[in-house]
Amino acid sequence: SMRNELSQLVNTVQDSQTRKAFDTEMQSFFYLFTRYLAERAQAQELDWDRIKSPGDDQIVPYSSLSKPKDSSALDKLAVLKVNGGLGTSMGMTGAKSALEVKDDMTFLDLTVRQIEHLNTTERVDVPLILMTSFNTHEDTLRIIKKYANQQLRITTFNQSRYPRIFKESLLPCPKGANDDKKNWYPPGHGDLYNALLHSGVLDQLIAEGKEYLFVSNSDNLGAVVDQSILQHMIDSQAEFIMEVTDKTKADIKGGTLVDYEGSIRLLEVAQVPSEHMEDFKSVRKFKIFNTNNIWINLRALKRVMENESMDLEIIINPKTTDDGQAVIQLETAAGAAVKHFKGAHGVNVPRSRFLPVKSCSDLLLIKSDIYSLEHGQLVINPSRMFENTPVIKLGDHFKKIQQFQKRFKKIPKIIELDHLTVTGDVYFGRNVTLRGTVIVVANEGQRIDIPDGCILENRLLSGNLNM
Ligand code: UTP
Repeated sequence: SMRNELSQLVNTVQDSQTRKAFDTEMQSFFYLFTRYLAERAQAQELDWDRIKSPGDDQIVPYSSLSKPKDSSALDKLAVLKVNGGLGTSMGMTGAKSALEVKDDMTFLDLTVRQIEHLNTTERVDVPLILMTSFNTHEDTLRIIKKYANQQLRITTFNQSRYPRIFKESLLPCPKGANDDKKNWYPPGHGDLYNALLHSGVLDQLIAEGKEYLFVSNSDNLGAVVDQSILQHMIDSQAEFIMEVTDKTKADIKGGTLVDYEGSIRLLEVAQVPSEHMEDFKSVRKFKIFNTNNIWINLRALKRVMENESMDLEIIINPKTTDDGQAVIQLETAAGAAVKHFKGAHGVNVPRSRFLPVKSCSDLLLIKSDIYSLEHGQLVINPSRMFENTPVIKLGDHFKKIQQFQKRFKKIPKIIELDHLTVTGDVYFGRNVTLRGTVIVVANEGQRIDIPDGCILENRLLSGNLNM
């Protein structure tokens, strides 16, 4: 059984202290696994009819918040970036946050700049905490090493490492605690709460007098500390605030806040029965989605962890091993914790607080001249004439980061671009300028090279080209 297999795994660890920590980890995993089995047996489905759009008091508009008189509340704040994911959809094998974004700086470097700037201008000492996973720990340490002697305090802690399980037998893939990396996985950013508790970081923060934690994704450069939201958290005494933003047709995959029998819940796409998928995606019923910028009251968190239990909806992530076997990963999402806290609600923030990089198309936009940097923050270049950013659709040839880097000798100038679609085997030279609507289509077996210095304005290129 799973229990036996897990204790065998634990017994493969020689050192007693390491074994104890590993045992704790496997117990947390076993608890999640048991919940998974119970839910499977009950075939527990959400009762769709009970899901309602959140009420007006459950989503507060950002524009109704006011700036605090002074910055004293910042003394009670710590900032945490969840940094355990790989960015597998972009073909990454190391931390996504170690990707260079602008001016030779990585996501992590930019986050450091943002907090350093806050600390200098407000004369405060807000610490930065990074949650890493076994996949991202080394990359992260390599980047933050250079800040060791600086003012900013940076703490890292590792999230859990859980065993993948075979879909058929429901037994763990790894045979020993040191078994190959690919038999393990980081169980989603919902693991944050467990990892904060078990690492001792939660107690440490409370002991330092910190009361609030601002959590966001390490690839979201729009998630800067916002003093109005912090003040609102204090004034409203909400134990948990989720920043949400207006949904567009492109955001159909994001989780949303819903009212479930009078209490607030996060509804993730993975929980939606297929017959209600259209309903879920519609912008009418669910107007907002979760940015994963989350504000948490630390004492309340400790209470929930110790006195109640932080059960979060299980997300089943199916994967296939290199040799073709079906495995599953049991994961959780940080935002699902919303239901455990008093006064929890959403704040509807401007889109600029949500600037994630989920694909190479997002990366192109962020690296381009559309944005410039101000103290680590991305700001839209003032010479952009249009309100919105261009729509960029790079095809499968650009899906993986290595391909993306190979196919753009240099990032084109796109300040006057509205729309770009690229499909097929396409390469961009240096100093290319794209304006208006540009569509480049290389058909099967063909290759298009956009030469150095080329200017494309409202052009459709397709077929075999000799430019
Ligand atoms: P996502 O779930 O969007 O995944 O992570 P990702 O890592 O960006 O990309 P894919 O899905 O692998 O392609 C959102 C944030 O949560 C962190 C990520 O590092 C990112 O900052 N995360 C994700 C964790 O910290 N731990 C996890 O187990 C998963």
